[in-house]
Amino acid sequence: MQDIEILTSSAGGNSVIHCGAGAFDEYAPQIAGKKFIVTDSNVYRLYGKLIAQTFGDCPVFVLPAGEKSKNYNSLKNILKAMTESGVTRSSTVIAFGGGVVGDIAGLAASLYMRGTGIVQIPTTLLAQVDSSVGGKTAIDFCGVKNAVGAFYQPSQVIVDPLFLRTLPARELRCGLGEIIKYGALDCGIYAALSQNQHDLSDYAFLENVTFDCISHKAKVVAEDERDVSGARKTLNLGHTTGHAFELYYKRKSHGEFVLIGMYYELYIAVRCGICGGHYAESLRALIKKVLKKIPSYSDAQSAAAGAKYDKKNEEQSTVSVIVPKREGESAEIKLPIAEYMQMIGDCAKELKQNG
Ligand code: NAD
Ligand code: GLY
Repeated sequence: MQDIEILTSSAGGNSVIHCGAGAFDEYAPQIAGKKFIVTDSNVYRLYGKLIAQTFGDCPVFVLPAGEKSKNYNSLKNILKAMTESGVTRSSTVIAFGGGVVGDIAGLAASLYMRGTGIVQIPTTLLAQVDSSVGGKTAIDFCGVKNAVGAFYQPSQVIVDPLFLRTLPARELRCGLGEIIKYGALDCGIYAALSQNQHDLSDYAFLENVTFDCISHKAKVVAEDERDVSGARKTLNLGHTTGHAFELYYKRKSHGEFVLIGMYYELYIAVRCGICGGHYAESLRALIKKVLKKIPSYSDAQSAAAGAKYDKKNEEQSTVSVIVPKREGESAEIKLPIAEYMQMIGDCAKELKQNG
């Protein structure tokens, strides 16, 4: 078990991430004071007993599982339940679940009485390697992904591989989407992925690479907590197109759209002469190891129009895309929206031609 600390402007100082097997048994029972748990229906079915054994008789708010719950109505219901159960500013909200639970519970904690404590206990691979760390909280709003949110650091994040044992294979793939993103940003993670490409679902590999991804993210967040200097933008590699597709097509989940977004944006990077050769091929192969078939959407160009709402854009007429450049290095490309949509459409056509 190892700790990673991020010195932040909130969380009353440091945000501490406890990582590794045994972290839950060690740290969850130590969370002091009045607690309010937010979880989802699947996680509650699997871990309701553990929640009760660990945290005792405290209020538990159970969201219907899935992205559809990450909305204003659910946020309002969580805040209402917090009020009715007498949560105070010195209470701690515990987000026990995947990224959806973490994002909405974190936002509720940031708003309630101008801020109560928040501890993240991520139970999906995606939430462990990415969403639970760094204090970004949000709901989707008016058809725009993560449009309403706040930066609000958890005082603690408890990352225990124990929870991965009940994750369906599809959810492991979603987490691997974000892990491959880190691979495109960090030479060490890229090397680990390349060495383990024949068994990316191996639990020992996942435990080690989770620590590496969190360490990478912690450095970036410490440098650019509020996403202003450009350092944190890199963590959005593949996400411009991923988010646009996610809200248009809805059928798949965030991690799958990150993989699809990275594939389409790699096409843009190659076409713009920013990335190429063996490195581009190897990233493409890694993505396809996790998601065998990259969809060749016939209306990809229309779906890509949603990228005009991306938070990285300075204006809606230009789309910002973060792409891999070479090992351990990424670049930002700013494209006129029409050109961006055209390239996304061309990538879809190429995918269709190649079967
Ligand atoms: P999710 O929270 O919907 O969880 C995926 C599925 O796994 C759900 O059905 C859930 O019930 C189930 N599940 C959770 N833990 C389980 C377990 N241990 N065993 C079995 N099933 C389990 O989705 P996610 O992929 O965890 O997170 C995606 C969300 O995270 C998106 O809304 C995305 O925008 C957000 N996100 C936020 C950040 C950030 O920095 N805040 C970063 C990346 C992604
Ligand atoms: N997942 C992107 C970020 O935390 O900035």
